[in-house]
Amino acid sequence: MNGLAIRAEGLTKRYGDVPAVDGLNLSIPAGSFFGLLGPNGAGKTTTIHMLSTLIRPSAGEAWVAGHSVRTESLAVRSSIGVVFQENALDHRLTVAENLRFAGRLNGLSSREIRQRSDELLELFGLAGHRDRPVAALSGGMRRALDIARGMIHRPRVLFLDEPTIGLDLPARRAIWRHIGRLRASLGITVFLSTHYLEEATDCDEVAFLSNGRIVERGAPGPLIAQLGRCIVEIETDRPAELAKRLEPRLGPVLVEADRVHLRCEDEPGALLQAELASLGSAMRWRRPNLNDVFLWVNRAQTDRRQAA
Ligand SMILES: Nc1ncnc2c1ncn2[C@@H]1O[C@H](COP(=O)(O)OP(=O)(O)O)[C@@H](O)[C@H]1O
Ligand SMILES: [Mg+2]
Repeated sequence: MNGLAIRAEGLTKRYGDVPAVDGLNLSIPAGSFFGLLGPNGAGKTTTIHMLSTLIRPSAGEAWVAGHSVRTESLAVRSSIGVVFQENALDHRLTVAENLRFAGRLNGLSSREIRQRSDELLELFGLAGHRDRPVAALSGGMRRALDIARGMIHRPRVLFLDEPTIGLDLPARRAIWRHIGRLRASLGITVFLSTHYLEEATDCDEVAFLSNGRIVERGAPGPLIAQLGRCIVEIETDRPAELAKRLEPRLGPVLVEADRVHLRCEDEPGALLQAELASLGSAMRWRRPNLNDVFLWVNRAQTDRRQAA
């Protein structure tokens, strides 16, 4: 499969006239960690459903592990693990029973199931919980088990649709550790979607989806570095007015509901800090993150639309 785990060309899904995913092109190397980022409704789940052969594209084509999602859906399915937004566990069964069930569905022998369950439960920190019913697990443990379930047949490509949604911060961190360990020990390709953009910083490459189209892509480090070293946020009741005052002196600013963002090459000096603080009710500065990348890409697009 010439080194690519996933390739898409013009991949499109329309519901009525409205494209949910609009002409997606992807080239994802085998063994890499890819993040599809975007707000709710951007088209992330629809993309994963097409790549995992759950729904048919309206146009375009994609290949997963070298197999066409249009004409070789069985071969695609046996090469992938999928963890959907809603978990696919039976809550009355125990942890071990859920894995056994998934293993049977995938045609594994009892011995294979036992061996892989042991491995996966260890990897996901669930070894001490194998005989507990899923209903008795925390949300984070359920999500971990759901990912283990998706890995029981040792797929080469794992799709994770918002794996940390609805979890608190410690549970989210635990899921990230599990995914890191999974990648390190099995060398699989991971295709992740999330709207917690800052979580995708460990990805090799990310693509930002907006209204079904990729609006920015690249490695997180360089994308973030493009913004400069520092973001200043000023809280204000009148963001548009403040923006007009600052822009001529300090370069482009970004207006959010109750605040204005500035990009700085360096941490703002004491004078500027005092001046900015006098303009708004609160001011702080911090390092830029992937969330900022998305905000500034959207700002640039709005500018282009207004100029047109
Ligand atoms: N079965 C469907 N019928 C009609 N519209 C849909 C359907 N599934 C998704 N959509 C629409 O497609 C767009 C993308 O949805 P989705 O892929 O679920 O986004 P995300 O996962 O990024 O939140 C949304 O506007 C959504 O309302
Ligand atoms: Mg979704």
